[in-house]
Amino acid sequence: MKIMEVEGGNQLTGTIRISGAKNATVALIPAAILSDEESTICNIPEITDTKALCDILNLLNVEVKRASESIIINPQKMKNVEIKEEFSKKLRASYYFMGALLGKYKKAVMYFPGGCSIGARPIDLHLKGFEALGAKVTYDNNKYIVEAEELKGANIYLDIASVGATINIMLAAVKAKGKTIIDNAAKEPEIVNIATFLNNMGAKITGAGTSTIKIEGVEYLHKCFHEVIPDRIEAGTYIIMGALCGNSLKIDNVIPEHIDALLSKLEEIGADLEVGSDYVIVSKQNSYKSTTIKTAVYPGFATDMQQAFTVLLTQCSGKSKVVETIFENRFMHVAYLNELGANITIKNQTATIIGKTPLKATNVVATDLRAGAAMVAAALIATGKTTITNVEHILRGYEQIVEKLTSVGAKIAIKEI
Ligand code: UD1
Repeated sequence: MKIMEVEGGNQLTGTIRISGAKNATVALIPAAILSDEESTICNIPEITDTKALCDILNLLNVEVKRASESIIINPQKMKNVEIKEEFSKKLRASYYFMGALLGKYKKAVMYFPGGCSIGARPIDLHLKGFEALGAKVTYDNNKYIVEAEELKGANIYLDIASVGATINIMLAAVKAKGKTIIDNAAKEPEIVNIATFLNNMGAKITGAGTSTIKIEGVEYLHKCFHEVIPDRIEAGTYIIMGALCGNSLKIDNVIPEHIDALLSKLEEIGADLEVGSDYVIVSKQNSYKSTTIKTAVYPGFATDMQQAFTVLLTQCSGKSKVVETIFENRFMHVAYLNELGANITIKNQTATIIGKTPLKATNVVATDLRAGAAMVAAALIATGKTTITNVEHILRGYEQIVEKLTSVGAKIAIKEI
């Protein structure tokens, strides 16, 4: 078992470079199998989710080569075999193979995906989308068989602007006959990144980044080169850490427009920020004002950033609130923040934080990926040594977190026990 130890109270100064976006990477890798030729994708983060997807590529007999931050994926000798539960359950995004295999072979057989336990996380909208394209879905004992004689373009309205359903339907529709329109599509930057990748291969997708995406089916997808966008959630996490204990901490390789909602909230509480074209410099302030955040689909305040921001709210004077509207079970970090000395109560989907409270080190758990990042943020300002267990969750999404934080002055280490 791996544990993380963090000695709090150190200033962070220097530069942290942001890696490629996890949530784009985890869709780009499955999307690459749609190509009839080889794809090269650069700026791929070295995180365990990437490895789990490469294991699925190997299972499907897809040739995968890693060269520093790039990945070369050649599906020419691919075989469409069942994706067993031991592979699918390692991460949520394994479900993108459902759309990609359906799009390519008109058949996908796989088990329910895994991922963070942050709510029920059904995939009904993905399946409804596949059915609208002409597929038949059979479900038995956690296993899905999705198959179609022919996929035909359709008009699909998503009841919820789901990131996963938008991408999965896009993957299934790129090779369908005719035109698909996805209405109430999610608008996250990662979706634009996936659409650009598919278009680079020869797909005809317009409107990604708006709530209406149009896909004109094509027969052949060719070789291409693509770059993963910087991870806006990783960037946000380190910016929040900078507001907690930074001294001119520079977060580099950022697209500031992707984190507008976070930057506005930071300004509102009185953070010291310099926002450049592709970087943010942040320093800790001695006092912050309280505020309310409400998570929302992009471009609203990201649910993935709410947990680390809650840590910052413990350092704001007065009463702050976090309203979680996307997932039912995203306050698991709160119990551990309280153990560290925070004063937070939860009622329904709202956390009320009374600050400012000093934090004191104790043993905590990374209950999921973003809750884990919040534990690291809290540990950085807690007095004493905090021990975090279930670190595997954090390593699913933060490339070289220990190395990055150590390089700017944090005392942090992962130990195998
Ligand atoms: C993605 C991100 C995750 C982020 C979330 C919201 C990836 C790999 N993960 O997750 O980091 O927190 O977007 O920004 O990109 N829903 C349904 N039925 C469905 C699909 C979704 O009811 O078929 C619901 C979900 O339970 C949730 C809401 O829709 O309440 C949004 O979920 P969705 O946008 O699909 O999130 P994910 O794609 O799972």
